[in-house]
Amino acid sequence: MARFGLIGRPLGHSWSRTYFTARFRRAGEAHTYDNFELADATALPALLAGTPDLVGLNVTIPFKQAVIPLLDAVDPLAAAVGAVNTIVVRPGHTTGHNTDVEGFRTMLLPLLGTERPRALVLGSGGASRAVVFVLRELGIKFRVVSRSRERGDLTWDMLDPVVIRACPLVINTTPLGMHPAVDGLPPLPYAAVGPRHLLVDLVYNPEETRFMHEGRTRGARVCNGLAMLHAQAEASWRLWSAVLA
Ligand SMILES: NC(=O)c1ccc[n+]([C@@H]2O[C@H](COP(=O)([O-])OP(=O)(O)OC[C@H]3O[C@@H](n4cnc5c(N)ncnc54)[C@H](OP(=O)(O)O)[C@@H]3O)[C@@H](O)[C@H]2O)c1
Repeated sequence: MARFGLIGRPLGHSWSRTYFTARFRRAGEAHTYDNFELADATALPALLAGTPDLVGLNVTIPFKQAVIPLLDAVDPLAAAVGAVNTIVVRPGHTTGHNTDVEGFRTMLLPLLGTERPRALVLGSGGASRAVVFVLRELGIKFRVVSRSRERGDLTWDMLDPVVIRACPLVINTTPLGMHPAVDGLPPLPYAAVGPRHLLVDLVYNPEETRFMHEGRTRGARVCNGLAMLHAQAEASWRLWSAVLA
């Protein structure tokens, strides 16, 4: 039996524990998966010291970048992305990985087919970095929207109908609309959204966010982050299984 878990804050929205608990049960494994809500990423070393049977951790909002300097090693992909969402724990040694890249790629490719539309990426945090990595890989031109001029190409007040019409792919990587604050909505000029658009939300709880609703009711295709959640979780599991083998 091995122990796994999730670090972040808050964790009430996350389905990772439910996902892995069901997965372990189906496989007849006695492994456990717990939520560890940390006040700050710097609490990670104390968590590892106090939980010596931990084999793996997932990392969620808002620690994907903050954990990097606290780890013993970071694999080349996670280093290139600049964000860690999976930690492999061996005795006395932690390695950071990024499986959000695989998760997002797995979700996006079937939605795009052979199309490579211009994209707007809402938010500049840990998940945004994985999204941007995949868009570059696919040769998709994109702009990042941030509250800060330093972290993005555009700020929210610059999003007029012309920008929205020029970007048929809009990807929400902010937590706006995530449970329990389900009324949250990225502030876009939604009147410019139409049937040419694909609105992808990384949020998966609730199943249909307000962002998706605004798109769907204007004829856009919409998708939540559930397929990404499953694909990144399976990729995390493959990394942890290598330790157990
Ligand atoms: N489906 C999946 O598998 C999956 C995987 C990863 C993440 N996610 C979801 O994606 C979301 C982001 O996760 P994350 O780990 O990237 O978090 P994060 O590192 O905290 O980044 C979120 C970014 O969103 C922007 N943001 C935050 N609050 C905002 C607000 N009130 N208004 C406008 N922008 C705001 C910020 O960008 P600026 O500071 O530049 O404005 C921030 O850096 C969460 O809802 C998470 O559950 C889902």
